Amino acid sequence: MTFSKTILITGGAGFIGSHVVRRFVNNYPNYHIINLDKLTYAGNLENIKDIEHQPNYSFERADITELEQIRQLFQQYQFDAVIHLAAESHVDRSITDPLIFVKTNVLGTGTLLQVAKENWKDNYEDKRFYHVSTDEVYGSLGDEGFFTEETPYDPRSPYSASKASSDHLVRAFYHTYHLPVVLSNCSNNYGSFHFPEKLIPLFINNIRLMKPLPVYGQGVNVRDWLWVEDHASAIDVIFHKGRVGETYNIGGHNEWKNIDLVKLLCRLMDEKLDRPAGTSEQLITYVKDRAGHDMRYAIDATKLKEELGWMPSLQFEEGLSKTIDWYLSNQTWLDNVTSGAYQKYYEEQYQIA
Ligand code: NAD
Ligand code: TYD
Repeated sequence: MTFSKTILITGGAGFIGSHVVRRFVNNYPNYHIINLDKLTYAGNLENIKDIEHQPNYSFERADITELEQIRQLFQQYQFDAVIHLAAESHVDRSITDPLIFVKTNVLGTGTLLQVAKENWKDNYEDKRFYHVSTDEVYGSLGDEGFFTEETPYDPRSPYSASKASSDHLVRAFYHTYHLPVVLSNCSNNYGSFHFPEKLIPLFINNIRLMKPLPVYGQGVNVRDWLWVEDHASAIDVIFHKGRVGETYNIGGHNEWKNIDLVKLLCRLMDEKLDRPAGTSEQLITYVKDRAGHDMRYAIDATKLKEELGWMPSLQFEEGLSKTIDWYLSNQTWLDNVTSGAYQKYYEEQYQIA
């Protein structure tokens, strides 16, 4: 079979990557999609089981920090494009163990850039290196204002600092070597296949098991939530139509104070689980705040909307309701990913079993 493009997607066994891989494999049968993933604790081939036998899909277990492995895969497949999502992605883990974030997010991105440059240097035509990043690189907002593409970088956690470093490297390869890059910085995602260490899937899992809901500090921090499939649709648009060298912010104007979001989640889950109203709220437990906890994130996605015509498709309550339904229909997935090493992480992070 001949394909019009061969695309390397990194981190495709993780949360967002699995949605991006599924979208590209299903929507573009002419593209050969190679999903490269190390399968860390956060990577799970169950997340993409539905497409594993598609003729335009291949999986490679590899580590983005291993230069020779990446060189060998570029040789083997002759990639036309890279969509780079592989990363260490959890702020709390970055506070406990910052160096793995430096290694994966900085060295790993540098390795991919270097090998792409080595392979494409004679001909950048129709080549593209798409780097997927986060709004957390912009730092923390007060009550007012939004992050735009011009907001100066001010990362404050080891996670966001490592992502900021990777963004700088991507831009440096553009300015220095003219590597045809494009970047996006997205707000917090939610949806299916989200590892239950992050707020929404963790709390859905705990509510179903009637376990405490550990809200950090006073629960007043604000996050701007976007349905993961809307992030994948934005990546699709930016990959195909975004201008080389540009950055696009992605977000859905959907800010929630943590405690309000947790209460909404509790209400919806009581309804879905047929529990008396108020049952899940009783599980809310205020715990020690996260060190250096960013107060507020909020994205201005005007550029993406005006230049490329992207809009989110779902309202939050609808998306959250669909998301809860997915976890309740896939409790075996939750049981599987929360067995073993997850238990140890949970006990160390929250000092409660
Ligand atoms: P995730 O932790 O669910 O998945 C990360 C994936 O990367 C996993 O499959 C893991 O096995 C893989 N991986 C880790 N180290 C690797 C290595 N050395 N080599 C190869 N693969 C490796 O993360 P996610 O939430 O899906 O985030 C994906 C990307 O999107 C990240 O770059 C993240 O910074 C960015 N992002 C995430 C959010 C969010 O809300 N989750 C928001 C904006 C941007
Ligand atoms: P998280 O899902 O870890 O995403 P991020 O820190 O990248 O925004 O956390 C979202 C918000 O929820 C953040 O303000 C921290 C808070 N939070 C809790 O209150 N309790 C928890 O157990 C977790 C994991 C997060």
